[in-house]
Amino acid sequence: MEFPPQTASGKVLWHFTMSLDGFVAGPGHSMDWLSGLTTRPGLIAEYTATTGAVLGGRAGWDKISGARPYGGAWAGPIFILTHHPEDATPTPGVTFLDCSAAEAVQIGLGAAAGKNLEVFSPTIGRQLLAEGLIDEIDIHVAPVLLGDGIRLYDNPGGTPIHLTPNAGVNLRYRPATGA
Ligand SMILES: NC(=O)c1ccc[n+]([C@@H]2O[C@H](COP(=O)([O-])OP(=O)(O)OC[C@H]3O[C@@H](n4cnc5c(N)ncnc54)[C@H](OP(=O)(O)O)[C@@H]3O)[C@@H](O)[C@H]2O)c1
Repeated sequence: MEFPPQTASGKVLWHFTMSLDGFVAGPGHSMDWLSGLTTRPGLIAEYTATTGAVLGGRAGWDKISGARPYGGAWAGPIFILTHHPEDATPTPGVTFLDCSAAEAVQIGLGAAAGKNLEVFSPTIGRQLLAEGLIDEIDIHVAPVLLGDGIRLYDNPGGTPIHLTPNAGVNLRYRPATGA
């Protein structure tokens, strides 16, 4: 069965490429593990067309030093949550917000004008999940094991969050030759 493409309908999307062992960034927010990975054909076009705004956190933003999502192929508004917006480097198209995650979602959805708001942060996603404000978790599983880094969902002592899948998921891998 072909996987249905993403649709634009004002959803709050927790969207990540994730390693098989559940990391969305390596140690120190490194993202070099993504280079050389092939994605399904048309994936970038699918998300640049359906994304109206992006919400991220300051840690990730400071690490990528101004690089835009989707390799610059997407041109919409970006909102970055931080407790200290005053020391952020002003960047065209980027608004630094000091508010609750829920308020940031309201602002982001308003700016998304009917398209989706993509949440690019495990910490913000966790806050939104707790408030019932995530509509969809959209994950591309990359064929790589990182063993260390920033997990999609880290909540020690928390209770399990049950999810409704839109398709059955079975994965089978072999270590790449020379790995
Ligand atoms: N694999 C992928 O597809 C993908 C895509 C996008 C991003 N990423 C990566 O994901 C990682 C994100 O890491 P992360 O979640 O640990 O860091 P993060 O969300 O980028 O940053 C956490 C920071 O966000 C701010 N923040 C969070 N909630 C806040 C709130 N309610 N109010 C005010 N400020 C708030 C705080 O900044 P202050 O300390 O300034 O107050 C906090 O320290 C990055 O490494 C990024 O590169 C991966």
